[in-house]
Amino acid sequence: MAEPTSKKPPVISCQQVAKIFDGRTVLESIDLEVFPGETMVIMGGSGSGKSTLLRVIIGSFPADRGKVVLFGQDMSPLVGTETGGGNEDKLAEVRKRFGILFQSGALFNSMTIAENVALPMQEHTDISQEIIDIQVKIKLELVGLREHANKYPSQISGGMKKRAGLARALALDPEILFYDEPSAGLDPVTSAQIDRLIIDLSKQLGVTSVVVTHEMDSAFTIADRMAMLDRGKMLKVETRDWYDNLRKLSDQEAKELPQTERLIRQFLRGDAEGPITERRSEAAFEADLLGVPVEQILPTPSVEATRRVGSAGGTGLFRRSKG
Ligand SMILES: Nc1ncnc2c1ncn2[C@@H]1O[C@H](COP(=O)(O)OP(=O)(O)OP(=O)(O)O)[C@@H](O)[C@H]1O
Ligand SMILES: [Mg+2]
Repeated sequence: MAEPTSKKPPVISCQQVAKIFDGRTVLESIDLEVFPGETMVIMGGSGSGKSTLLRVIIGSFPADRGKVVLFGQDMSPLVGTETGGGNEDKLAEVRKRFGILFQSGALFNSMTIAENVALPMQEHTDISQEIIDIQVKIKLELVGLREHANKYPSQISGGMKKRAGLARALALDPEILFYDEPSAGLDPVTSAQIDRLIIDLSKQLGVTSVVVTHEMDSAFTIADRMAMLDRGKMLKVETRDWYDNLRKLSDQEAKELPQTERLIRQFLRGDAEGPITERRSEAAFEADLLGVPVEQILPTPSVEATRRVGSAGGTGLFRRSKG
């Protein structure tokens, strides 16, 4: 587990990153550093900008302001701008150093699990097929799918697809793994298994992990540090213990907190009442008075209340699943 204060330079550094879509600011002045070997969880309600931040970090979109530095390298000249530029070859070199687990697993349906995992090695390395076969077995063993190597994606469950996607993300021995909602749509046991896997991979392989999630159980299980996004702004980057203490404060103690921290606390606890809901109803009232759509007052959906701490009893009944 890496200390955020460790001497090593960060592997990811976002400096004042902004992203604007169609004139709307979706990310605003984001500062975030991720250190080697740590697991950083990025939280926030639907539409708060989590996936966008991930995409800007991995160079799928250029940042409109500020910069992203990966492995000490400024990504701007590699990614270019909306209108062009960039350096595809250098970008591809950097991309080989990280793996991404997309929400769907994004496997090729016409290929077996083993073939899916082999593909990045065939495409990006000169390794012989014999060695690739061995590598594939190792990756599949890591995610517990070795026996299912010859099945097609349609023949395995959603949780297994996620694990297969993870094996493929591991194909090129990445230094960083990015996960976007790894446990969304999975049953609680499978989702706990994915959490376990994220922790094991980070321990066994020493990979740095960046995990986007709004599943609070998951977040607290896997995180070393956590970052809270709200309507495109980074509210707080802190240790898991800091967030855990905030979550456990009593209502009485919470009354003394600044607004931002009360808002984060509501999100962490999934409370039905608090600054998030107050802000929403204020916006609705203002919109009503002005006769405009509420989106005009509260442009991006704010952090959403998730589950109440403990109330779901681990049954996952209140888990928000995504398609
Ligand atoms: N390619 C795009 N073009 C225009 N707007 C976009 C694009 N991608 C995202 N957005 C907008 O940016 C905002 C943030 O979206 P993003 O997908 O980053 O949210 P999120 O936090 O990942 O939400 P969720 O939890 O639902 O996945 C949303 O309002 C979304 O509509
Ligand atoms: Mg998203």
